[in-house]
Amino acid sequence: MSETNNKNEGRMEAIVSLCKRRGFIFPGSEIYGGLAGTYDYGPLGVALKKNIQASWYKKFVEDRDDIFPIDAAILMNPKAWEASGHVSGFSDPLVECVKCHNRFRADHIEIIDGVQHCPNDNGILGASRQFNMMFKTQIGATEDPTSITYLRPETAGGMFVNFKNVIDSLHPKLPFGLAQTGKAFRNEIAPRDFVFRMREFEQMEIEYFCHESKWEEVFESLRTDFNSWLISLGLSKELIHEVEIGEKDRAFYSKRTIDFEFDFPIGQKELAGLAYRTDYDLTQHSEFSKTDLSYFDEESKERFIPHCIEPSIGVERAFLAVLSSAYKEEVVGEETRTVLSFVPSIAPIQIAVLPLSKKEELSIPAKEIVKTLKKIARVQYDETQSIGKRYRRQDEIGTPYCVTVDFDTLTDKAVTVRDRDTMLQERVKIVDLDNYLLEKLS
Ligand code: GAP
Repeated sequence: MSETNNKNEGRMEAIVSLCKRRGFIFPGSEIYGGLAGTYDYGPLGVALKKNIQASWYKKFVEDRDDIFPIDAAILMNPKAWEASGHVSGFSDPLVECVKCHNRFRADHIEIIDGVQHCPNDNGILGASRQFNMMFKTQIGATEDPTSITYLRPETAGGMFVNFKNVIDSLHPKLPFGLAQTGKAFRNEIAPRDFVFRMREFEQMEIEYFCHESKWEEVFESLRTDFNSWLISLGLSKELIHEVEIGEKDRAFYSKRTIDFEFDFPIGQKELAGLAYRTDYDLTQHSEFSKTDLSYFDEESKERFIPHCIEPSIGVERAFLAVLSSAYKEEVVGEETRTVLSFVPSIAPIQIAVLPLSKKEELSIPAKEIVKTLKKIARVQYDETQSIGKRYRRQDEIGTPYCVTVDFDTLTDKAVTVRDRDTMLQERVKIVDLDNYLLEKLS
């Protein structure tokens, strides 16, 4: 078995094509010609996305005692976005071609002899201006300036505005965190690279609050936890790079930021960020809402505004990193097989049950096996086409184990279990099958 097309060349195109062909991701509104910066998840994509989110939720919420979930509304009082600085400062530099009037992100275009040229028709690009990336919308039936609000550009805001609600209802002691996953919207000037830069996407964010004196300790511990979570998704260590962001490139609210960059097929790019947001957000929201968002420490009798460390990742970037890590093409004999070698915990389908023939004498026991295995795993039953084609299809969607029910099963009460990665097959008694697979999947 040898490998092919596992270099970056053509790899992104191969992944995009597999996503469409197998029902992971489709271009948004495709039958109407699409809508730039939007994508729709298909059945397998939904499963993979949910498994990635569940793994984040388990690691950072369920397995800990100090991080609590929040699910805030996407629409918020617009004052919250004034307080956070997004209304005045959430912008990217925009340039427009004097000839074709196409618009581009200024920092994505090379400056040659002091001039930027249009990638479309080589025309001169005009002076750069700031473009606010928030999507404006109207609340209620009257269209006047007081009814304007925004689709949230990050999930973080909903956690800061609920800080007091959590303190008053749960009474958690510092340090503690809030965690939220949900949609975010950004009117990106140039959405690109499949799901890497979108206009509508999802984030998984944590706002971890502590006393100012503890921020470095918290930062380091979240950094370690975040890195080990990325590795648990099957991303190889060597492809993850922690990059210290210099002062001029940091968000205005951050005193320290580390980006977790990843070797995507499109190059080394930001996968996630870890930012020390200081007491900026709670201070701003206190001032703008005229609500006291300080914390009283019973032990030290000190009242203060907590400082905040934020690990933040886009679900789609995690999804793309997982896909591009897992994607392999291997030459097997005369054929090339495509494999998604997902770690079993996040594979959309964990076990496929394949009767060698559609005949009832095999399909009935195979469906019985499906029923039993569904108690321990995500299982798919498939009786279409030849067994070889079915193995290839399951390899391509990343199913770690295939269970084949054949005519010998009727006498030896055993099935063949095929391992996706080694392609080795083992005969296992049906009575032992659930324990055997449970061990393999863990
Ligand atoms: N609350 C902090 C925040 O939103 P960010 O660096 O702007 O910081 C956090 O975004 C993460 O969200 C990024 O690391 C990336 O994974 C994801 N992200 C940001 N913009 C995105 C976009 N246009 N499309 C897809 N994911 C995006």
